[in-house]
Amino acid sequence: MRTFTPPSGPGRVVFGRGTLTRTRAEVERLGRRRVLILAGRSTAEAAAALEESLGPLVVARFDGAVMHTPTEVTEKALAVALEHAADCVVAVGGGSTTGLAKALASRVDVDQVILPTTYAGSEVTAVLGETTAGIKRTRSGPEVLPEVVIYDVDLTLGLPLPLTVASAANALAHAVEALYSPQATPATDAMALQAIGDLATAITTIGADPHDPGVREKLLEAAWLAGTCLGAVGMGLHHQLCHILGGAFALDHAATHAVILPHAMAYNASAVPEVMARIARAIGVTDAPSGVHDLLRAAGAPASLRELGLAQADLAGVAATAAGASYPNPRRLDAPDLAALLDDAWHGRRPAGTAAELSLLTTQVLASFDATPSPRARRLLRDLVCHLHRFAIGNDLTEAEWRYGIDFLTRAGQVTDDNRQEFILLSDTLGLSSVVDVLGGARTPDSTPSAVLGPFYCDDPPHASHGTDLAKGMAGTPVWADLRVVGPGDRPIPGARVDVWQSDDQGLYDLQHPDLPEPQLRARFFTGSDGRLAFWTILPSEYPIPDDGPVGQMLAAVGRHPFRAPHIHFLIDAPGHHRLVTQLFVAGGEHLDSDTVFGVKEPLVAPFEQGEGPAPGGRQITGEWRRLTYTFRLARGPHPPENLASLDQPTAPST
Ligand code: BEZ
Ligand code: FE
Repeated sequence: MRTFTPPSGPGRVVFGRGTLTRTRAEVERLGRRRVLILAGRSTAEAAAALEESLGPLVVARFDGAVMHTPTEVTEKALAVALEHAADCVVAVGGGSTTGLAKALASRVDVDQVILPTTYAGSEVTAVLGETTAGIKRTRSGPEVLPEVVIYDVDLTLGLPLPLTVASAANALAHAVEALYSPQATPATDAMALQAIGDLATAITTIGADPHDPGVREKLLEAAWLAGTCLGAVGMGLHHQLCHILGGAFALDHAATHAVILPHAMAYNASAVPEVMARIARAIGVTDAPSGVHDLLRAAGAPASLRELGLAQADLAGVAATAAGASYPNPRRLDAPDLAALLDDAWHGRRPAGTAAELSLLTTQVLASFDATPSPRARRLLRDLVCHLHRFAIGNDLTEAEWRYGIDFLTRAGQVTDDNRQEFILLSDTLGLSSVVDVLGGARTPDSTPSAVLGPFYCDDPPHASHGTDLAKGMAGTPVWADLRVVGPGDRPIPGARVDVWQSDDQGLYDLQHPDLPEPQLRARFFTGSDGRLAFWTILPSEYPIPDDGPVGQMLAAVGRHPFRAPHIHFLIDAPGHHRLVTQLFVAGGEHLDSDTVFGVKEPLVAPFEQGEGPAPGGRQITGEWRRLTYTFRLARGPHPPENLASLDQPTAPST
């Protein structure tokens, strides 16, 4: 059992795109009115934007932040702060600028608002690392912790790729060391593992499009998580080595993290094998240290201390300093072993591990897509391979299991023909179709939710007029469907084309009766001038999806039933509006909460109320009948394609 007291983080965190413009409001919220802007050389442009946005609150600007927070630079900035009686520092930049803000806050009474432009993470910690006469020392205290952190993804879009990868390695290091820290808590464990997985994915994909805001967002989010870990727990050998190397030899901070991390992990691996296994699982490799090495190298991170400019003769001194310092580390610190670690890092050797070949293989396959002309296709293929390899590696997949999977897909192909699509059934029962459906629905939030098309749609069903009985007298509880199609602002849409189809009371669609002379329980309507359509049908019942193939075997093998909740399908097209493909589910029907294709959405569950009084259209009914009343809302959008075949063309979702 472990005992823990999680520390608190910064007062406020603001995360998003374009959030730089919220800085003024945050400074005002703190009650501060004399701002000193801090920036580094590379963030002068963002500092200028801040200056403009903060307007009269700015009293001075200091653009001289440099790496490792040397005290002589802090003294210069302090003089500026005192001269202008600053009561708040607003720092935009990486760890160096944040470090300078913290150094000032530890000397005078200023609040700190930090806008990070890298993934260093120090903005959410109460730790200050300062360098005096070549020695970097850390100290912490509540005055060091920034009051507000504003993460603006836009500030990171232009971060050069090499710096991006190295800085992401820095974040990765925080998360890795948090997992074996003595102060780890369930919260830091969860944050660290999430950060490690997200960072690994982003480091692998960022090279394809370094400006991709989606990947940048993930990186910044993971950096925040990793930084929060850094602030919450003590760090071990890796951070200690980076501090020594940075302080004494002014090596590039982020690049040093990228070089040292795999070797520090390899050093500690034997002491914390279970932590290494969790890290390996999170990044989809079998061996964490060599996996991290390969991940960073494939993304172009520097491999050796030699290329960072360290002389080999300096290694022994670093090993001795690291062995003599007192900090928590899972494995005992032993100078000769540390010297060996540093020798490996200096040469850029790959940590020996069982997964070397696997990591290399994944890297090679990913590189094989580099020349793909379509960026979207390249991204999808790379990501698919990453996930497939991680699936196999993470589960230690056996040859027999792989063969079973291939055989399963082969059988799915063999039962697929013009009337039977086993692959779509597989996608449906794995929830993938509904995932894609939900993603599509999110692009048209103003419309009635969509639902999967299913395999029983037919182009060009028979036209029917209002009041028609689709059941043509067949068995089942009669239902009077009284429906409306409207657009934005509840404006009725006249002339909308509405295709309706459903199963019979045995749970079968007409397509499943090959000998039927004409379509059954299927029709096409056009809405009237009031946007309405009305027809008679029968109450749909639950039914099993076709389960005599491999998908049915899969459902049986895992103890799942094959039933869909009772529903009626609709496909609605109207010029100037997005197509709506959806279903209405019978409230109170079977399997609403266990629909085998995960297709039920709450707004689509409609009451099929008991009919009262005379049946519409003068119909004589002796038993019970039901009434379905529903309004479909279409979102404005491009004219829908003429037929579903044109949906076969893959299109990138608009972002
Ligand atoms: C359907 O609702 O028609 C359906 C949807 C997915 C799989 C099988 C059937
Ligand atoms: Fe259906």
